[in-house]
Amino acid sequence: MLWRTAGVCYCRGCRAAWLPIRTPVRYNGAHRGFFFDATSPRETGKEGITVVPTGGALGAEIRNVDLRTIDDVDFAVVFGAWHDHLLLLFREQELSDEELIDFSRRFGELDWAPIQESGRRFVEGHPEIYVVSNVVENGMPIGSLGAGEATWHTDMSYLEVPPKASMLYALEAPRFGGDTYFNNMYGAYESLPEELKRRIEGLSLKHDGTYNSGGYLRQGVTPVDDPMISPGVYHPLVCTHPETRRRALYLGRRRNAYIGGLSLAESESLLEKLWSYATRAGLAWGHKWRAGDLVLWDNRCTMHRRDSFDAASRRIMHRTQIRDEVAPRA
Ligand code: OGA
Ligand code: MN
Repeated sequence: MLWRTAGVCYCRGCRAAWLPIRTPVRYNGAHRGFFFDATSPRETGKEGITVVPTGGALGAEIRNVDLRTIDDVDFAVVFGAWHDHLLLLFREQELSDEELIDFSRRFGELDWAPIQESGRRFVEGHPEIYVVSNVVENGMPIGSLGAGEATWHTDMSYLEVPPKASMLYALEAPRFGGDTYFNNMYGAYESLPEELKRRIEGLSLKHDGTYNSGGYLRQGVTPVDDPMISPGVYHPLVCTHPETRRRALYLGRRRNAYIGGLSLAESESLLEKLWSYATRAGLAWGHKWRAGDLVLWDNRCTMHRRDSFDAASRRIMHRTQIRDEVAPRA
């Protein structure tokens, strides 16, 4: 059953004065996003912004919007759809780095990008931009992750306060391969047997800071392959999304992960079980990139991975990461 509640939503995000038109939607007693009665194209009569769900486990495409000139009303639709669908796809965008940064900033302050694998700090003049690319110029890779597979992960969860969202914008995409898959970590939590939910209640997971999802050692870090002693940050294994209030499994990445307080063997076996639930095909949705695609996802309730592609083809993506206001909380 679906109904709308009157009054002020208890979600932190809802109290923001700049989004007065959204009404919280509750579904089976849980907060499930927002309803926009003032902004639907049907009501305004304009060929307006449209939210088209992928039909998969997560994600929606937003149509009829130019992110360079998006107004506050359309942005409110985008913001609500992002909470409802976890991931948004915008096609045929033509963004400069400045415009990508400007649109990203509407969601909050930006984190600086991690240091690229080459040791280079960032795109000249834009510390917010992380380049994901296999292209080599003058003997130096212009970005990170090469052309290999990137394993399931959540961005930068080795930080005390990981970015709440990432935005990936495709400047050049290969004809074959390099697809990115995303999964629904609310769904992952909900799919766990009750007994397993009880088993992990209150546990914390160490998120490794040694390797990135492509298996590359992070800059300035000594290689360690013992999960008990590798550098990283603990977060609750089950987190409550600060805005939707829904509970999600928060796994970060598999390599060097360690559940605090358990023996290594216990931690490994519990993690194997949790990962097998989280990476089921039914929870994932895959995207085949075209140049001009921008995908925005919520790092608090999704993970992603990437297929490898032919190293002789070119793939250039620019990413921004939006700072969260709070650390992950149970
Ligand atoms: C990222 C990432 C995968 C890809 O940018 O955070 O994991 O498809 N990218 O390039
Ligand atoms: Mn990533």
